Amino acid sequence: MKANLYHQLKRESERLVVRPYLFNDFALCKSSREARLEQQNQFDSPVNISNSWDKTQFKNKVMAHREKAKSKTQFIFGVFDKREELFLGQVDLFTISSVLKWGNLGYNIHNQFWGKGYAKEASEICLKIAFEDLGFHRVEAAMDIENLASEKVAQKLGLDFEGVRKKFLPDELQDMKVYATNHKDF
Ligand SMILES: CC(C)(COP(=O)(O)OP(=O)(O)OC[C@H]1O[C@@H](n2cnc3c(N)ncnc32)[C@H](O)[C@@H]1OP(=O)(O)O)[C@@H](O)C(=O)NCCC(=O)NCCS
Repeated sequence: MKANLYHQLKRESERLVVRPYLFNDFALCKSSREARLEQQNQFDSPVNISNSWDKTQFKNKVMAHREKAKSKTQFIFGVFDKREELFLGQVDLFTISSVLKWGNLGYNIHNQFWGKGYAKEASEICLKIAFEDLGFHRVEAAMDIENLASEKVAQKLGLDFEGVRKKFLPDELQDMKVYATNHKDF
């Protein structure tokens, strides 16, 4: 996979820009995190996790993303509105097998922006990055069987339902639904 491209990756849709974080995204990301509503469900991050955030931690996080991309472990992207005035959330590709060019798609939108189609639009860009820029062959999205919003996003993306992985998570023993596509079908 062409991981050396990571820092150059930037793709747009009608409303969004998806790209790796820059150090100077700190203020935008912090204000968006602080504007989140109360935790909406068990899959939403608790609001207080951003309280201790500072510029150095953000910079370290961005550098860690770059290391992960370098090692082809994970490719993490911020989701911004077209004018880059709002930080909306994050999408990522996690490498499950580099031999099989098989990855996992993750999506997370700050809850004040839910229900506007941003997760679907950002994930669609992320899949284009996966197949056209990074050379993945197969990408799946796996979610808790009760995470209906996440499942709806996978369905709206046109991913195929492949089944349920029983007791998939090592500690919680959660069952996970799996949706997937590949570079031919997408
Ligand atoms: C899942 C998540 C990314 C969706 O973000 P979003 O920007 O609101 O998603 P979209 O607007 O693109 O689409 C959401 C769809 O789910 C539907 N939906 C939302 N909550 C739902 C629920 N409880 N039951 C069924 N459908 C639901 C919406 O109606 C919408 O479908 P529609 O466009 O047909 O009306 C967001 O809820 C989130 O960040 N959740 C916390 C993190 C998470 O669960 N990530 C996925 C981990 S696998």
